[in-house]
Order: sequence, then structure tokens, then C-alpha cells
Amino acid sequence: MSKVVIFNASPRKNGYNSKLLEQVAKGAESKGAEIIEFNLNDAGIRGCQSCFYCRTHDGCAINDYLKPMYEAINEADAIVFGSPIYYYQITGQAKVWLDRTFPLIDHDGNTITPRQPGKKVVTIFTQANSNPEVGAEGIKYVTNIFNTYGWKSEDNIHVCGAELVPDLTALEELSLRAFKAGENLVG
Ligand SMILES: Cc1cc2nc3c(=O)[nH]c(=O)nc-3n(C[C@H](O)[C@H](O)[C@H](O)COP(=O)(O)O)c2cc1C
Repeated sequence: MSKVVIFNASPRKNGYNSKLLEQVAKGAESKGAEIIEFNLNDAGIRGCQSCFYCRTHDGCAINDYLKPMYEAINEADAIVFGSPIYYYQITGQAKVWLDRTFPLIDHDGNTITPRQPGKKVVTIFTQANSNPEVGAEGIKYVTNIFNTYGWKSEDNIHVCGAELVPDLTALEELSLRAFKAGENLVG
């Protein structure tokens, strides 16, 4: 059975990001995938402590909410990540999580070798501004890191002009795309 791990970096449970991630999950589920979701707004998440445990071990020495994610990623066929754009970047919650993915690489000097390559990826970014350039740096940042991990992007949905209360008409079209992206992660 395919396994899909979702990372939601939005604090808004009814925002665009959460709703679209839900659709990706439904699409993948409709094809028989098992879904594991991590809410990156969980209060039990600590930032990387720079202990370098992960340089000599698999996984992370921190015993918190994210502890099970290393095994989940290891077993996953696909990763789904979503973040709103805050001040031209991903959210703080997303950054804390990215630092905690340090165990996903080996590095020797300037040479980086991914430990968990070959995952399919769907990314979702949401922003209020209608100009896509506003979130472009944040998206590039995440994309570069995922490329370094040897993960292959299947779709990137960048919602621009997001209203505080999601516009259901706009959301319907995006939801369909998100659902299909989820379906495409399986098989
Ligand atoms: C602290 C903060 C900073 C934000 N900065 C930006 C920004 O720089 N550009 C922008 O277009 N929207 C910005 N927004 C708006 C969010 O990107 C927008 O509300 C988005 O839809 C939130 O996603 P969600 O619906 O998934 O929660 C900001 C919102 C917050 C709370």
C-alpha cells in the first residue's frame, strides 16, 4: 500500500492551505493510499538543537511530536507539504520543520547525499497578494531543499489572492487540481 505523509504548516484549520491539503489526501486515499498527517502548528514541536546526533545516527535525538516523522518519511512513497506565505517566506512553523529534516541528508564537506531520495512531492503555497512574485522566493527555497533531498515534484499549487474567508468558487477549481495531484501520487 502506498504511503503519503502530509505536513501542514498553516495554523488555520479552515484556511486554503488546510483545505487543499485535505483534497490531496482525499485524492490519494481514493487510490488506496495510507495517509499520515503532521500538523506543524503543534505546540509540542521543538526547533533543531544543533546537537549533530543526526550526523552519526538515523533520525533525531529530540523526543517530541515530530519523532515519528522520520520513520514515516522513510516508509513513504510521497510527501505533501503546504505553507502560507508570511512576509514573503514560508511560515515560521514550516522553517522549524525544515531544520528538523536535517536527518534526511548526509554531508561531507560540500557534498550532500540524500538519505531518503525518490519520494514524489506535492507542494501548496497560499498568499493574500495576487502577484505570484511575492511568494516566489519562499517557494524556490523549499523547492531547492526538496531537490537536494532527491524528491521529485509532481505538482506545485500556488494560491495567490487568497481571501481571509476562502472564496468557495475559487476553491472549487483548486480543490479539483489538489485532488488529482493526490491521485497522481499513487502508483
Ligand atoms: C504574519 C503574516 C504575514 C503575512 N505575510 C504575507 C505576505 O507577505 N504576502 C501575502 O501575500 N500574504 C501574506 N499574509 C497573508 C497569508 O499569506 C494569507 O492569509 C494566506 O491565505 C494564509 O493561508 P491559509 O489560508 O492557508 O491560512 C500574511 C499573513 C500573516 C498572518
